[in-house]
Amino acid sequence: MEKQLLDVQDLEVQYGDIRALRGISMGVQKGTIVALVGANGAGKSTLLKTISGIISPNSGRIRFAGKSLNKLRPETIVNMGISHVPEGRRLFADLTVLENLELGAYPSRSRPFLNRSLEEVYDLFPVLKDRTNQNAGSLSGGEQQMLAIARAMMSQPDILMLDEPSLGLSPIVVHKMFELIKTLNGRKVTILLVEQNIHLALKISHYAFVLKTGKITMEGRGEELLSDPEVQKAYMGALG
Ligand SMILES: Nc1ncnc2c1ncn2[C@@H]1O[C@H](COP(=O)(O)OP(=O)(O)OP(=O)(O)O)[C@@H](O)[C@H]1O
Ligand SMILES: [Mg+2]
Repeated sequence: MEKQLLDVQDLEVQYGDIRALRGISMGVQKGTIVALVGANGAGKSTLLKTISGIISPNSGRIRFAGKSLNKLRPETIVNMGISHVPEGRRLFADLTVLENLELGAYPSRSRPFLNRSLEEVYDLFPVLKDRTNQNAGSLSGGEQQMLAIARAMMSQPDILMLDEPSLGLSPIVVHKMFELIKTLNGRKVTILLVEQNIHLALKISHYAFVLKTGKITMEGRGEELLSDPEVQKAYMGALG
């Protein structure tokens, strides 16, 4: 069994009295797509924010490529190869597409490769190349989501953490988004994917974790969970 690229052990996170994560242990194997699914408020975004160093855990440990991330600053964590596309995209609306992308290459690990990274992301997202001098705020929702992912790719990450990339997108764009995630994974980027669209997420994932009120209640290969009656009943009612 190959070693885990990302390894989370007994992670506890509290917001005041609210225990958002109650002893999470999970891992992500290098080169895979791993989905993190669960109802609203389960703690999915909290887990990603804790991995990327935006939130400090009350206890537990996180290791990436064998190194501890505990107490490291978010900038250091990006520099180690972890890139996070947060819920709601967080673009600089008044900066152009190009300026947003350039900021993504700011970490020292990627700064020397700015031009090469730009070529790569413009190749992956031709629509952004067409809009290079347009303000990010003027892009459509789908284009903004593409830009958020492209910006995260500019740091040349080993692992890309995506928080609900399909939120608010039309069905056709959602399918494009999932195709894109597979393409990125084909280019050797490990993916940790948080999604409300559980059906599609499990379909493209090698492995998945189900989170419920701060705990992992199920885990397994994507297709196994997809055909699990309990998962279908609890999370995919709308699909019949
Ligand atoms: N800054 C905060 N202060 C207080 N409580 C918070 C804060 N952020 C999250 N919480 C609480 O922690 C729990 C987990 O929230 P989190 O955002 O991680 O859930 P989620 O699984 O990402 O949900 P969603 O699917 O709605 O995005 C929720 O009960 C939420 O209300
Ligand atoms: Mg969330």
